[in-house]
Amino acid sequence: MKRMLVINGSPNGAKGNTEILVNAFVEGVEAAGASVTRLYTKNLRINPCCGTLHCWKNQGKCCMKDDMQQVLEAMNNADVLVLASPVHVDGLTGPLKNLLDRFVVRVSPYIVNRNGHNTHALSNKSSSIKKLVLISNCGFHEMDNFDAMLVHVKAIAKLFHCEFAGALLRPHGPAMRFLPKNLISEVILSAKMAGQELIKAGRMSEKLEQAVSQELIGKKKYELMVNAHWTKVRIKSFFSKDKDISYSEKPSLSTETAYLPS
Ligand SMILES: Cc1cc2nc3c(=O)[nH]c(=O)nc-3n(C[C@H](O)[C@H](O)[C@H](O)COP(=O)(O)O)c2cc1C
Repeated sequence: MKRMLVINGSPNGAKGNTEILVNAFVEGVEAAGASVTRLYTKNLRINPCCGTLHCWKNQGKCCMKDDMQQVLEAMNNADVLVLASPVHVDGLTGPLKNLLDRFVVRVSPYIVNRNGHNTHALSNKSSSIKKLVLISNCGFHEMDNFDAMLVHVKAIAKLFHCEFAGALLRPHGPAMRFLPKNLISEVILSAKMAGQELIKAGRMSEKLEQAVSQELIGKKKYELMVNAHWTKVRIKSFFSKDKDISYSEKPSLSTETAYLPS
């Protein structure tokens, strides 16, 4: 495995929390001798699939002219696909899901039976992807916030006829920004080693995956820090002259403020 394509679906692109993990992981992948292409949905114009199956009726030609062709070409030149996405409403971000839906152009209309289960055959122009990896972070504290996404991405691997090769999941991801560097260094190092391991051994070990997901701060303390941050931001906005941003609810300065854990 020598060629990797990373698609980051965060609306925050290269400035987001997901990217902190992606950067470390990619460093390890490159150190192990693989080449990496990075795409950001934020910088791509990808329309949602229109659902008419025009591509199935017209020899795999999509009716839309946008940046999807660039993504499909990148997929043709990679053997590992990394889906990088923050958790949005318990799943992948909308832009990344839109992009994945458009992969229908590379799927044959015919249903085949694989291990007793219906799936589509891939078209002869299909991608060369052999393995799929997930990198994600979420705002809540618990690991179970990745449950729905994990089930979904494993199913996507099946649909794309490739092996699910592991996931780097970072709960309370925003803590990577506000905690001192020494507290997150083991997470970053483990993400880098997981990248190396994937290229050398073809899979990431559970030990490294768990090190990336380790608790960085207690739940109560985290809630307190995040809520204090948002109270500060909202008070600043309330007193700011720039009234472009409006809230349906005014920030309260009473004990209702989120300074206090419930
Ligand atoms: C629209 C939206 C939906 C979100 N939904 C969830 C969610 O369901 N569960 C969760 O734990 N975090 C959720 N988050 C928080 C993000 O996962 C978190 O802020 C993450 O660090 C953002 O990563 P990024 O900087 O790479 O975009 C949501 C954020 C946004 C903007």
